Amino acid sequence: MRMVFRTIIEPFRIKVVEPIRLTTQAEREAILRDAHYNLFLVRADDVMIDLLTDSGTSAMSSEQWAGVMRGDESYAGSRSYYFFEAIVREIFGFRHVIPVHQGRAAERILFSLVCKPGCVIPNNTHFDTTRANIEYLGGRAVDLPCPELRDTATPHPFKGNMDTDALERLIAEVGAENIPLVIMTLTNNSGGGQPASMANIRAVSQICRKHGIPFYIDACRFAENAYFIKLRESGYADKTPLEIAREMFSYADGCTMSAKKDGLANIGGFLCTNDDALAQQERELLVLTEGFPTYGGLAGRDLEAMAIGLREVLDEHYLQYRIRSTSYLGEHLAREGVPIVQPPGGHAIYLDAGRMLPHIPPLQYPGQSVVVELYRLGGVRSCEVGSVMFAPRDPKTGAEQPAPRELVRLAIPRRVYTQSHIDYVVEVILEVYRRREQLRGYRITWQTPFLRHFSCHFEPV
Ligand code: F0G
Repeated sequence: MRMVFRTIIEPFRIKVVEPIRLTTQAEREAILRDAHYNLFLVRADDVMIDLLTDSGTSAMSSEQWAGVMRGDESYAGSRSYYFFEAIVREIFGFRHVIPVHQGRAAERILFSLVCKPGCVIPNNTHFDTTRANIEYLGGRAVDLPCPELRDTATPHPFKGNMDTDALERLIAEVGAENIPLVIMTLTNNSGGGQPASMANIRAVSQICRKHGIPFYIDACRFAENAYFIKLRESGYADKTPLEIAREMFSYADGCTMSAKKDGLANIGGFLCTNDDALAQQERELLVLTEGFPTYGGLAGRDLEAMAIGLREVLDEHYLQYRIRSTSYLGEHLAREGVPIVQPPGGHAIYLDAGRMLPHIPPLQYPGQSVVVELYRLGGVRSCEVGSVMFAPRDPKTGAEQPAPRELVRLAIPRRVYTQSHIDYVVEVILEVYRRREQLRGYRITWQTPFLRHFSCHFEPV
């Protein structure tokens, strides 16, 4: 009989270690005051467990580091580019592969060419940089998440789906000629790292084909999405993540990618398309602002690291560990009553600070209060995703309005932390939860007009 053990181990061992500087609560209280209670203003050396983002924070494998040494730094025709192009074609299947330095560079090049003032671009939920690039060019970025996403407490297997009825209505309302493309973000980052089903991706693609609208995928976390399909959608249990990923992309006309996520790289990204004329224009813009088409603003060594990472990320044992370790954190919190967005996403757990701290009004930023306390008690860095980040302004009075939800994101870097680190994070969160009635709100004492969360100053109310 073949034994199956319950414990899922990290499918790697550690060859290089980076020390964590342990700090005391008294030190962290001084650090917080100096940083005006904004965790973006704290030095990374003063953080014990950094869950600010899963982007660019992956640990590279020995193979990737070997690739860094093999990198061909030729200006034109680099061997590393052809290696990278072949792997991207094998997985994503698109004709043209254009390297860029990170995801938003792909967005800027694509939208500069297709987005005209007044155009409309739907997405399940636009990530901030995607929305900002569209709005900067005078377009309208529309979010069409499925209705299940709104209820954070109730699980659903595919909360990252797009609302296909809403998409049909939007096309009828504004006209297909005013929609240069439709995008799906896989997984839906702003919606909690939730996946979309193959059936939904196929349905959105069919609607786009029917109306002659190109269909794109924001592929940042494509491997995590593919693995969720394998686990949750009937007919996919016996397929490999690579087969599932290929099918996902077969429905699309192109993609944008930040390899800082599921490329397991510290920098890099790419833009793909099947449209020859568009690819030509994209390469012209690329030369202007990023670099020659066989390096796109990256070093040859970065192309190697990305290419090898794209293969490794589709390894089933890696994906099993990845998805399991994120849900492990979520389950240990939910079991003790901590309100989290259900079900756990692929790359992050989102705490619902609005439900956790009902005594703090939204405009005294309950999410920020949790973020500060997680750092003060345990040196854990997280990120507010609520009224600090998103509070809309009243168009008439300019007064701040509460955001729809007050969340705190705990994003898990890939292959970086072990189970004992996660157990420690659970302990810190549970202690913050026990003290929740003592937590107080914050007020903003200084801010910039755009993207204020990166630099604003707070003080406790
Ligand atoms: N699309 C999605 C869905 C993202 O999550 C990100 C980045 C981007 C595009 C932009 O890619 O950073 O390489 O330019 N998300 C990071 C995060 C910053 O923390 O979620 P980039």
